[in-house]
Amino acid sequence: MTMDRIDKIIDKYLDEEGVLIQLLLEIQRDFNWIPKEAIKRINERLKIPVSQIYRVASFYTGLSLKPIGRHLVRVCAGTACYVRGGPRVLDSVERILEVKSGETTDDLKFTLETVNCLGCCALGPVIEIDGQYHGKLTPASVEKLLSGYD
Ligand code: FES
Repeated sequence: MTMDRIDKIIDKYLDEEGVLIQLLLEIQRDFNWIPKEAIKRINERLKIPVSQIYRVASFYTGLSLKPIGRHLVRVCAGTACYVRGGPRVLDSVERILEVKSGETTDDLKFTLETVNCLGCCALGPVIEIDGQYHGKLTPASVEKLLSGYD
């Protein structure tokens, strides 16, 4: 299944030169990251060295070698949020999603990050999900908030 999807994308670039970045961007768009299988397959089919593929994939910020969830959850770990209960909110998020900061859930639904300040300290504790800010959170309200995402 995954390999079929990868092969379909590679098929479009078979007879072209200098297509590695476009190809990787398309894989990134389709999978939301660059799976190892894709790197292996590009190497086999386009004869591009694995080292070159990794170099390009790690250089461009739009490309990720780690899975990224459909929703990016950024929990503020700044001082203002900390004193208003940020650590308990972060604990709840980690418990609910069963990941630590920097990790992605197995179902690729959420990626969790911590940040130093989201710039709206008066609303602390604050979480940003897909660019939307949610303030004055508690462990209970964060559970409800996360359950609203597909
Ligand atoms: S410290 Fe959390 S938003 Fe500033």
